[in-house]
Amino acid sequence: MTPYKSFPKLTTLLYLCIISFVAACNPLSPPPSPTMSTPPTPTPEIFPTPLSFGEPIEAFEQAEQLGRGVNFANALEAPNEGEWGLTLEERYFDLAKEGGFATIRLPVRWSAHAEVQAPYTIDENFFRRIDWAIAHATRRGLNIVVNMHHYEEFMSNPEEHRARFIAIWTQIAERYQNQPATVVFELCNEPNGMSANRWNPIAQEALAAVRTTNPTRNVIIGGADWNSIQGLMDLKLPEADRHVIATFHYYSPFEFTHQGAEWVKGSEAWLGTEWLGKSNDKSVVNYHLDQVAQWSEENRRPMWLGEFGAYSKADMDSRVRWTSYLARDAEKHHISWAYWEFGAGFGLYDLAQNAWNQPLLEALVP
Ligand code: BGC
Repeated sequence: MTPYKSFPKLTTLLYLCIISFVAACNPLSPPPSPTMSTPPTPTPEIFPTPLSFGEPIEAFEQAEQLGRGVNFANALEAPNEGEWGLTLEERYFDLAKEGGFATIRLPVRWSAHAEVQAPYTIDENFFRRIDWAIAHATRRGLNIVVNMHHYEEFMSNPEEHRARFIAIWTQIAERYQNQPATVVFELCNEPNGMSANRWNPIAQEALAAVRTTNPTRNVIIGGADWNSIQGLMDLKLPEADRHVIATFHYYSPFEFTHQGAEWVKGSEAWLGTEWLGKSNDKSVVNYHLDQVAQWSEENRRPMWLGEFGAYSKADMDSRVRWTSYLARDAEKHHISWAYWEFGAGFGLYDLAQNAWNQPLLEALVP
């Protein structure tokens, strides 16, 4: 992370150094391991008539409209939907709406459903499943951010997968060009394994491909280094394209939010880490969000916090305190957000009990 300038307290500075070190070692990579057997993916319903395109929305206005959101994760970004224990249902969209959310972020593993050779055609049934999700969000007046998640081969070999990455975006953009502006694209979840110098031109190329069919749709782009704040500092966007919203993710302190996370090696050692919300704890979060807000102002780009959350192995009181502080502090900085995530390990909704995790819901939507 960038050196911290002009921060008053020595103790806070020391703490920042520790979390920066932890963040630098952040091994936030493989997804949660599957916990349940694969239920069959339901036959997708088809909504053949696209909703009317409507007026373009200015990027700052749309970033504000994204408001409070939730990630519908562990479903469509599993290798196949259902393999990580979650298959999306229509009622989830109602729940999100009733819970007070304005936006769904939809993580999607397109790379598992596209041909490996040119022209890299995306499987039609998979496309229909995404049509279904978009239609359900849109009909309820929810914004939906469709991303590209877990394209792991691209992360480990960006140049070899560059053409496929662009071709996949070309197809997504073509298919959804007539959707309303409330359908937003997000180019890549947590680019990693490549430097900003490599990621920035690829992102610009993908954006140019989207622009051939979607000249004014807002597109969300984050920096390399797992969409971290450091990655944001190195993000370079095409100056002339003002229909871009920048994004970042926030999981600090990582040893608190990812304690006991099965996909993070060594994280059992962090079990029992609390977040007490002392003034130093809050100053750290606030300082980070100040950095984001400053970048946003200097670069004249609206911001979106696309992921933040604390895993279920942390104690509930700490999770509620941290989640609530994050959400309010982001709002204070005029940053809309999407909580990670709806119904799995960070779960806001208990699918087994069919009930909200009420304290968490209230922390997000007071
Ligand atoms: C990853 C998930 C992970 C989450 C929190 C997401 O970006 O895709 O696999 O559970 O971050 O670590």
